[in-house]
Amino acid sequence: MINSGSSLFFADMTSASAPDRIQESLPPAMKAVVLTEPSPAEKIRLTDYPVPKVRLGWVLVRVKAFGLNHSEQLLRLSEIQTDYIQKPIIPGIECAGEIIDPSDSTFVRGQKVVALMGGMGRSFNGSYAQYSLLPAHHVFPVLTRLSWEETAAVPETYFTAWGSLFECLRLKAEDVLLIRGATCALGYAALQLAKALGCKVIATTHRREKIHLLKNADAAVLDDGSLTKKLQASAFPPITKALDLVGSRYLKDTLTAVAKGGIVCSTGILGGIYSLNGFDPIKDIPNGVYLTGFFSNYPTAQTMADIYSFLDHHNLTPSIGAVYPFSHIAQALYDMDSHKIDGKIVIRVN
Ligand SMILES: NC(=O)c1ccc[n+]([C@@H]2O[C@H](COP(=O)([O-])OP(=O)(O)OC[C@H]3O[C@@H](n4cnc5c(N)ncnc54)[C@H](OP(=O)(O)O)[C@@H]3O)[C@@H](O)[C@H]2O)c1
Repeated sequence: MINSGSSLFFADMTSASAPDRIQESLPPAMKAVVLTEPSPAEKIRLTDYPVPKVRLGWVLVRVKAFGLNHSEQLLRLSEIQTDYIQKPIIPGIECAGEIIDPSDSTFVRGQKVVALMGGMGRSFNGSYAQYSLLPAHHVFPVLTRLSWEETAAVPETYFTAWGSLFECLRLKAEDVLLIRGATCALGYAALQLAKALGCKVIATTHRREKIHLLKNADAAVLDDGSLTKKLQASAFPPITKALDLVGSRYLKDTLTAVAKGGIVCSTGILGGIYSLNGFDPIKDIPNGVYLTGFFSNYPTAQTMADIYSFLDHHNLTPSIGAVYPFSHIAQALYDMDSHKIDGKIVIRVN
């Protein structure tokens, strides 16, 4: 049993050897998901694993909650076999928690932080654990009214939505935004941000039974692969920006669905096709339409602060599909693999 009580957390820090004493006051082992080979949800167990020792440039975070991601599913089921994944690996590309040991950083003990990407859960151990040792430059302070579960639903999903909408699509209130493949955590986040900004949003799903989940959009459309025809035949205003979460499978159709001067941002791969053989930029990108892509590997403290401040300012609560306790991680992963949950799955750890 792990003792994670706050009396340990606020250990006396007055002596010169304080960092060592924090380590000593921590339990020697923690619960974690540790992978060495492809692992369907049924094989997932919490095991005892040493609490990481802090080192220069890295901070020790007590994980309070973390979100699940599609890319972790890919890692767990197949990518773990590649050479560039450290093994054994604790997966998890994001988390929310508190600083237990700031090491040589400017963080202070007890500070509320989030962390994401930058190799987390791939080239160094990630967040499916009670404690996580993380590079200080990939840990960001947060000020928010949100609960731990809500805070943990934000980092990867909202950073990706934010970067796609504002950095890549340069979204403005007067835009008409198409979100292709909107019934996923990222789609719901993008819809929420765009509506808060004041945009008109047309959102698509590939499942008729999910159309009602897009009630916050101005229009919800069933995507059969030929949106351009469907939108042209409708009374919808011209699309000025498009966030494509389905990816290469329908990218050419998304490019023709936007108006001249419009921008398409390809961010997702829900369609299961990663790259486009035979893509002809001259013919496949219509004249005067712009194509960009977003990769969430480079978060900054400023952007993360802006996101939480935007959510607070607009009184928005991140949409969450389900919350599971850490002890039920295998069930959560099973429900994710079998598409049972709509939206972000969050695991509550401590
Ligand atoms: N570029 C980046 O840096 C970045 C960062 C984060 C995520 N992503 C990508 O963004 C996408 C969404 O991520 P997420 O974490 O939000 O996913 P998620 O919440 O795990 O959603 C996955 C679900 O999307 C549903 N879906 C909706 N439209 C779909 C379609 N047209 N085709 C297939 N499935 C569809 C599927 O359920 P149903 O079939 O039941 O509808 C699937 O279970 C993923 O492709 C992910 O890899 C990219």
